Formats: sequence, structure tokens, C-alpha cells
Amino acid sequence: MKQIKRELVSKLSEKLDVEVSISDIERPEPEHGDFAYPVMKAASELGENPRQLAEETAESFENHGFIDSVGVAGPGYLNFHLDRESFASQVLEVLETDSMGVEARDGSMLVEFSAPNLAKPMHIGHMRNNVIGDSLQRIMRFIGYEVTSENYIGDWGTKHGQVIYAFKKWGSQEEFDENPMDHMYDLYVKLHDEADEEDKEKAREWSKKIEEGDEEAVRLWEMFREATIEHNEKEYDRMGIEFDRVTGESVVADEAQEVIENGLEKGIFEEDYDGSIYVDFEDDKYPNTVVKRSDGSTLYLSRDVANIQKREEEGFDYNLYIVANEQDLHFQQLFEIAEMFGVEGIQNEHISYGMVHLQDGSISSSKGNIIRLSDLMDKAVDKAAEIEGRDVDNAEEVGLGAIRYANLSVSRSKDINFDWDDVLDFEGDSGPYLQYTNVRAKSILRETEKEGETVGTLEDEEYRLLKKLSEFPEKVEAAADQREPAKIANYLSDLSEEFNSFYHSCQVTGVEEKIEKRRVKLVETFVEVTDQGLELLGIEPLDEM
Ligand code: ARG
Repeated sequence: MKQIKRELVSKLSEKLDVEVSISDIERPEPEHGDFAYPVMKAASELGENPRQLAEETAESFENHGFIDSVGVAGPGYLNFHLDRESFASQVLEVLETDSMGVEARDGSMLVEFSAPNLAKPMHIGHMRNNVIGDSLQRIMRFIGYEVTSENYIGDWGTKHGQVIYAFKKWGSQEEFDENPMDHMYDLYVKLHDEADEEDKEKAREWSKKIEEGDEEAVRLWEMFREATIEHNEKEYDRMGIEFDRVTGESVVADEAQEVIENGLEKGIFEEDYDGSIYVDFEDDKYPNTVVKRSDGSTLYLSRDVANIQKREEEGFDYNLYIVANEQDLHFQQLFEIAEMFGVEGIQNEHISYGMVHLQDGSISSSKGNIIRLSDLMDKAVDKAAEIEGRDVDNAEEVGLGAIRYANLSVSRSKDINFDWDDVLDFEGDSGPYLQYTNVRAKSILRETEKEGETVGTLEDEEYRLLKKLSEFPEKVEAAADQREPAKIANYLSDLSEEFNSFYHSCQVTGVEEKIEKRRVKLVETFVEVTDQGLELLGIEPLDEM
């Protein structure tokens, strides 16, 4: 627990008269103590014998509030044993507050995620994106940022003329009305498979028409846009994801043209011999890249530049993009260009993440070559319902929780091998395991008639659980500061394991009253911490399973 570490740090600094920082405090093996501090460095600064210095320092800690005893080991290690009862009451009290001991951060933060493209269903790539983005928006809100989450739809550019063209050539309004997403996607695939140069040229003309505001083009584009958003809305609903706003590349289309003009004026952009506009980065830091084509249309990148300026004007302190690592270079170039434009008031961050590989090829889309997000969700739920030997009541929540956990428990820079058996393993490091342990703790609370209370000295197994519980605030802080939900996911998994071994060796109900109360208190706190932790991952805590 940070507070205790902080107290130790200030005591040590005072006693030794050297600067001690929180990171100097170690967590030794439980049999050695709760916290340790090596005095060797301080001793060499002070020109003293480390062992002797350690012994003197240890003595001066006698009769100190929350410290029970201080041992000296090795060349100069101070091992602190806390007073279990006062440590426990402090930890449990802090975890009961609204902040749960998490140190608040402040500032306004834009969290952009999902950002699917027009006329295409979300696919496996969006699975990880959606759950990382959603978990981050939850974590950032919890820690105190003023968060605005945004879904920035890929609704502009040459691709969108293609859908219109394909719709005019092969589409039918009837089929569209019946199942808009399937129809739009069919058209997209068909155009891909069958289009020749002439088709492509005509498709480009439709893109131009959208940009010029042609009535029919705009009407169809809007129809496709609405249908895409509406379709995706159902999938977000199912996953429990909410956005504060839905925008799109189209929103900054005009500003992107201004960016080009300004960039040319300022000498940030250059014109090529064919009339296209590009950026040449100083010292070839990044490869040159085009920001406006010779036909006058702007690119994805130029719209992003316009968007950064806009977000800065809106007053956001932080601007987070949850986007796969395929786009690492794009964001490096984007942030570099933003800097050239003098954008400084906003901290831009690409929250990059690795690929998801499905071990089991059995889901493949019948049309096209994508694996749809909705099929993945169905499969997870079906599988959760069929888990052998379990009668899962909440298959929807368990299946989706399993997907969430599998995507969040691996640190985001790493690729994931998605294996259904692991993902749904009730005994293993999985979403269902977390939900199940949380449910089990709740059922203990239903069994007991006692109110929890911190009384008496904690036994070893109880104390181990308490110490794990005490780590919650620092894990949330680490997850927020590193933009890494895995910190919380992995912590909850360790904590659940600790809870299960506690439960295995400590009977909670039907024991001596004082012991029952104390154990009930631990179980209550475990429920609070895991309810909140699961919530931060977007996994639904259940009452029964
Ligand atoms: N729509 C893009 C895609 O599907 C992702 C957009 C990411 N966000 C951004 N501001 N560039 O690849």
C-alpha cells in the first residue's frame, strides 16, 4: 500500500538523512517481511558500515505505530514486519472509500477507438480495439480524467465512391432495406472481385461527386453512413460499449483542404511535378508521404492533421488513439506533422496494439475474407453455454467476458493467440475464472449472518489475501499511466488465485465469531475490489453463474 510505503520512506529519509524514494522500498518474500529496504547505498553515501547502519536504523524503529518489528539480514537489509491488525484496518478502510485509495489524475482526455469504416461490418481486428478502448475509457474516468470517448468513422475518401458505384451497378434498394450491412458488404466484395479499370475510374467519379456535394451522391453516402452506424450500434450495445460522440473523417474534410493550403504556405508541404502534395521529413526521419493527390482529393493523413488541430482547439489535454500497430508509421508521421504545425497544447498518443491470431480456423466468413465480430461473439456465447460439467446461466455475459479478458490480459504490444479452450477455461487464467471466483465470494456472503469486521491478528493465509488486496490502487494507477489494462487484468487473476487458496484453507462460516467476522470482512473487500476491477475491464460482475 502506497501510504504505508510513503510513511516508511519519510521515516527512513529522516533517520538516515539521505534521500529515499518509494521505488527503493522492495517487497521481499513473505517469510522475510512485508517490505524491505537495503541500506547499502545510503551507507556508502554516508561512509558507514552497512550492517551497522542497518542495525542502528532498525533499533530506532522500535515502538513505531504500524510496524511490528524490524529485522536485519545479509549485508544490510532492513526487513519490516507490519503490525497485521493496524495494517489490515488501514487497507480495508481505504478500499471502502470512493477512490479506493487510487491517487487521482486530472485533465481532459479524448479517447478515440473502434473507428470502423463505412459499409463494412466490424471484424476480428475490432474485437481487441473495442475492448482495449472501452477498458481505457473506464479506467481513465475512474482515475479522474474528464473523458470524452469518440468513434471516428472512416466515412470519407475514395473507398466510399466505390460503394455508391457498386450499389448503382449491382445493388437493390429492397435488398438494402432488408439487411443493409450484408448488402453493402456484398457489393464491396463484388467490386473488389470483379472491378476492372473502367469500374474503378467510375467509382472515383462518385467519390468526387460526394466531395462536390452532388445531391444523389450525398443522399446515398448518407444512407450508407447511417446504416453502418446503426448496424454497429447493436454490436456495441451487446458488448456494453458506449461512446460520448460519433464523428468521422467527413467532419474534417473541409479543414483538411485548409491544412494543405496552410502547410504549403508554411513550407511544411511541397508540390510534386504531377501536382500532388507531399511531406518530406527532415533528415528522412520518416518516408515521404502524400497528403493530397494530384486529382485534388485529400488523404486519411491530412484529415487526421486537421482533426488534431480541432481537438487541440476543443481544449483536450490528452488525445489517445487506440489503433493497431499496423498504423505505427502513420501516427509517427501524423504527430511529427502536427508538431511542424505548432500543435503543442495537446499530448498525442498512439495506443498501439498487436494482432489477434485465431488458433481455430472454424470461423471464417462465408463472404469475403473477414471474420466478423458478431460471429466471434456468437461463438463465444455458444461455447460458454456448452462448457462441460457446468450449467452456465449467463452464457452471454460469460462468453463476452471471456473475450474481453483474453484480449486484455496480454499486454497490448504483444500479439495474441486466441485459443477457445484457454479463453473459456474455468480453472485457468480466464474471464470465466474471474467471474466465477467473484460469484463464489458473493455466495459466501449470502451464507453468513455476520457483518465483517477487522478484529484480531490475521493468520498467514488471511494476511496474504489482505496484502494482495492492498495492491489494487497501485495497479489501477499503473494501468492508467501506462495505458495498459493488462495491469488490472493480471492483477485480478493473481488476486482470485490468492482468494481461492485463502478459501481452501480458511473456513469462513461456522467458526468462532471473531474469526468469522474477520474473514467475512476480507471476503466483502474481495467482492468490492473484484466488482470494481471487472467493471474497469468491461467484464460484467455477476451474482450467480
Ligand atoms: N478507420 C481507420 C481504419 O479502419 C482507423 C481510424 C483510426 N483513427 C484515426 N484517427 N486515424 O483503419
